[in-house]
Amino acid sequence: MNYDAVIFDLDGTVTESAPGIMKSVSYALNKMGKPVPSEDVLRKFVGPPLHKSFMEFCGLTDEEADTAVKTYRERHAVIGWKEAVVYSGILPMLLSLKKNGAYIALASSKPLPLCEKTLEYFGLLPLFDRVVGPDFQNKSGEKEYLIKKALPDHYKNACMVGDRKFDIEGAKKAGVTAVGVGYGYGSEEELKESGCDLYAETVDDLSNLLLGSAPRAKGMFITFEGSDGCGKSTQMKLLKEYLLSCGARLTVTREPGGCEISERIRSLVLDVKAMGMTDECEALLFAAARSQHVKDVIKPAVESGKIVLCDRYVDSSIAYQGGGRGLGSWVKVINEKAVAGCMPDLTLLFDIDAEEALRRRKNATGADRIESAQSGFMTDVYNAFMALSKEEPERIKVIDANGEIEQIASRVRQMVTDKILTLSLRSEKTEG
Ligand code: TYD
Repeated sequence: MNYDAVIFDLDGTVTESAPGIMKSVSYALNKMGKPVPSEDVLRKFVGPPLHKSFMEFCGLTDEEADTAVKTYRERHAVIGWKEAVVYSGILPMLLSLKKNGAYIALASSKPLPLCEKTLEYFGLLPLFDRVVGPDFQNKSGEKEYLIKKALPDHYKNACMVGDRKFDIEGAKKAGVTAVGVGYGYGSEEELKESGCDLYAETVDDLSNLLLGSAPRAKGMFITFEGSDGCGKSTQMKLLKEYLLSCGARLTVTREPGGCEISERIRSLVLDVKAMGMTDECEALLFAAARSQHVKDVIKPAVESGKIVLCDRYVDSSIAYQGGGRGLGSWVKVINEKAVAGCMPDLTLLFDIDAEEALRRRKNATGADRIESAQSGFMTDVYNAFMALSKEEPERIKVIDANGEIEQIASRVRQMVTDKILTLSLRSEKTEG
């Protein structure tokens, strides 16, 4: 790896935070009865210390700028900070840096509690060894001071990654390599003129520049399971949106299906017209579709560092065909080849009471062949899922799916971020 200590700027480097910042600057100026500048000028507020920007771009006095910063924070601290997202690819890059034992810190001109809150909201805080924001000695947030404070006691090669000239100038004064990124709010010209040592146009370029030929963190495989009507598809969609906002790279897929051949098997196996199908034929078709799906989609995605979210997987076969159809442990046997060693890192099993599930299923239209099975079938499926969760409590986490959607979503987010961290820290220990 090229660097053993990497210091990041926040806005425009880790997070795309312009919308919340620009709206909060406008809010402060409006409230003070000052004219609001154009979008182009507002955009310049992202990155540098606010106090300085209010004076430079809006002609405020030192005292007025103090008030403007306070007023800005009224809005930003409540809603503005949540209007950000992490740039796509930042999460796998940080996990790879951690896997290789790098020290990671943040040096931002934003108040420290806000930096921490933002990193925590996106599940990134535990990946940072140190987070530094301005303090009373450094009210205006001079970068050189922040960078020096963020550096570890010992390092061989340190760099500061930022998107504005303040980051580059600060890095040079602090005596570390200055890396400019072109995907943030400063132009390539600004970064090169201020003397950046290295320039990365995209997050992938940055990742290559920091990691060199060091091994990358593997991705992760998460499956969503439960009886029909448990609400897992809604939760998968919400988790997808959240993980994208955290800078993850994702593959979202489903079973049966997920690739061309398996989608063709899906239309056959779920077809209500295929009523004469034997239970064994059904189980083998699910396994056949899975085999192709693992090879074409799941394995390549995990190996390339992506997080795979899959709506149903082998546990559905064990519960529906093994439990519901009564085929028992033979289902595990035929699936061994199909999964080819590719088991989920985490399975979220949505547990809902039978009446609620039935109500939801009745509201949904067009039951497929499996959902049209006789009553009693769903109870066997449910019991098989529960038995599985007891056999593998580490992998299969049962989630109470009876509450409010947002409450359930928050539990799901917590479980997934915890798992991402334990996996990355574990691989650091075992491989590093
Ligand atoms: P789908 O429309 O995806 O339903 P859901 O939204 O409930 O997941 O249909 C998949 C159906 O196939 C569902 O009833 C469960 C069943 N199934 C099995 O019986 N075995 C399996 O291995 C899989 C993957 C699904």
